[in-house]
Amino acid sequence: MKKKVVINASPDLKQAAKRNKREPIIFIRDNLVVPSKLSLIAKDKKYFIRTYGCQANVLDGQTIEGILREVGYEYTDNPMEADLVILNTCAIRENAEDKVFGEIGSLKALKTKNPNAIIGVCGCMTQQPHIVEKIQKTYPQVDLIFGTHNIHHLPQLILESMEKNVRIVEVYSKEGEVIENMPCHRSDKIKAFVNIMYGCDKFCTYCIVPYTRGKQRSRIKEDILKECKALVEEGYQEITLLGQNVNAYGKDLDDGSSFGELLVEVAKLGIPRLRFTTSHPWDFTEEMFKAMGTYPNIMPFIHLPLQSGSDDVLRRMGRRYTSKEYCALVDKLREIIPNVSISTDIIVGFPNETDQDFEDTLNVVRYVKYDSAFTFIYSPRVGTPGAKMEDKTPHEVKQARFKELVKTLAIYEREKAEAYVGKIIPVLVEGTSKKDKNILSGYSDTNKLVNFKGDYTHVGKIVNVKITEATTYYLKGEEVNE
Ligand code: 5AD
Ligand code: SF4
Repeated sequence: MKKKVVINASPDLKQAAKRNKREPIIFIRDNLVVPSKLSLIAKDKKYFIRTYGCQANVLDGQTIEGILREVGYEYTDNPMEADLVILNTCAIRENAEDKVFGEIGSLKALKTKNPNAIIGVCGCMTQQPHIVEKIQKTYPQVDLIFGTHNIHHLPQLILESMEKNVRIVEVYSKEGEVIENMPCHRSDKIKAFVNIMYGCDKFCTYCIVPYTRGKQRSRIKEDILKECKALVEEGYQEITLLGQNVNAYGKDLDDGSSFGELLVEVAKLGIPRLRFTTSHPWDFTEEMFKAMGTYPNIMPFIHLPLQSGSDDVLRRMGRRYTSKEYCALVDKLREIIPNVSISTDIIVGFPNETDQDFEDTLNVVRYVKYDSAFTFIYSPRVGTPGAKMEDKTPHEVKQARFKELVKTLAIYEREKAEAYVGKIIPVLVEGTSKKDKNILSGYSDTNKLVNFKGDYTHVGKIVNVKITEATTYYLKGEEVNE
């Protein structure tokens, strides 16, 4: 028999797009409330979680794991053995969503095996009304649909669904709060992500993120520093400060906080490696440049999404910079940090992108010579301005451009990688090869993957590695004791 559906709240994209700049950000500092009834039920029960998408989702996944462990669930890496399955989803492109639908479909087998199992879907996908509708209509095996704003209600949602034997939809479309003091389960003991802000107010015309994650809201500096200090004390070697646009950190706080200042204060805590992502090319400040040039533990690596090299496309995307301004920024970064490595995101096939627009993108790629890049074919997202734009460019043309872009990027990626051969570079060792424990793997300060011969007891340490070869995907080398 089909379960009854209880709708506590449904998503609404219009509501999600509202921004009231005068409304102060609400900080919620309550600790997690775990119903004791649920803890009794969760004893000896297992959870499985799969997280798709960006680092913001990875951190949400770690919060969900922290919550479930506090409730009393244990982890299993096999969804078919789980009593509770959570799919933490990404909405950035259609192919990301297709993967999730595939996985929801295959979870039907879990329900057949264990009808009491609870299946929950959350994350950016469920912030969209048409997705919630599709899950409700097509996938009766899903018991819980919740969103990015109410992760901290998960214990109550699980209990309600169990006790009333109902399917629950609880997705809020709102500007959002800053919720502190939630548990966080980090399985990696070497590298940690720390959120410094949530949401996004940029509303680039192709992007669904401002609708799924609410307004830009910064955490208070003291809360961030406290979390980072604890990570340093626990022995973490690397912290990555996270936000959709970290450069804009503090602008919504009205207490004078800025990203440049935060960067300096976190660097001073003594974490061996400090990174941050993502930087919008628009909000760079002198303070940030100065910090990056001054503190050796701020890594010489920057992810600087270009999206397009055509000024017309950039304008229609709402990116607020020109290709010339972007290239000047790259020049400045290279002047301040000579060994800086630069990666990017590029979209091809934005509505009505012309051959000349595409050529402009290739020209920026030729100028910047990126160390690495993520490339995407434009995917219209329901509710965004981009999805309403007329688009006459055939898909085959977009695919051909995509191929050409990847080919051009590869030339420079290869060039950059080969320039490392013969050099000695610092590598944070993350693990050993399964076949041979003295083949180690880690990332350089410039974020290059390095596989090398070394001492397996050095996992978790930063060692010097002499690079002997550059392959397409990684650098090869040997540890040196200099
Ligand atoms: N289609 C294709 N790529 C997109 N991105 C964001 N939205 C879309 C979309 N609708 C890309 C951008 C962004 C990265 C995270 O994903 O390049 O920087
Ligand atoms: Fe999306 Fe633009 Fe915000 Fe990045 S800055 S999350 S691309 S709207």
